[in-house]
Amino acid sequence: MAKVLIGFMGSGKSTVARLLDDNYIDMDSLITEKIGMPIADYFDIEGEESFRRLESQVLEELLKMDSVISTGGGVIVNPYNRSLLSKNKDTIYLKADFDTLYSRISKDKLNKRPLFITNSRDQLRQIFEQRQVWYEEVSTQQIDVTMKTPEEIIEEIL
Ligand code: S3P
Repeated sequence: MAKVLIGFMGSGKSTVARLLDDNYIDMDSLITEKIGMPIADYFDIEGEESFRRLESQVLEELLKMDSVISTGGGVIVNPYNRSLLSKNKDTIYLKADFDTLYSRISKDKLNKRPLFITNSRDQLRQIFEQRQVWYEEVSTQQIDVTMKTPEEIIEEIL
């Protein structure tokens, strides 16, 4: 069974996934390899909808595997993805408050997220609030990661 990490941008999904298993699969990296360009460029050229379709195909394949999977923050936007994730018995929501996440996202110079570039802070907060319900709906475990180190988070998961 796949162990799937979900949560908003900046919640630490990839960091935690790496600590859980060196051979974890990062959905965004996999998609970046497939499309041959950064996700921000793909959003510009092909649009978000096209990215969501790809994301859905990749998720469906990965859920059949016995791996630790780090997802992109928007994986729960598509209702089909939510139904897939709901059926998975080990889906962990890394939860944090918006201000913490926003500060992390804005400091991340290596990963320029398209939704961060194209939305104001208030718009991003609305996206966050809408998604929180979905993260909670599909997850089997929720961990408040706001004040925790990656090691403390791992301890809670295991
Ligand atoms: C997205 C989050 C990103 C990436 C893409 C869209 C989103 O992943 O999949 O930029 O819609 O929240 P991270 O959560 O790893 O930043």
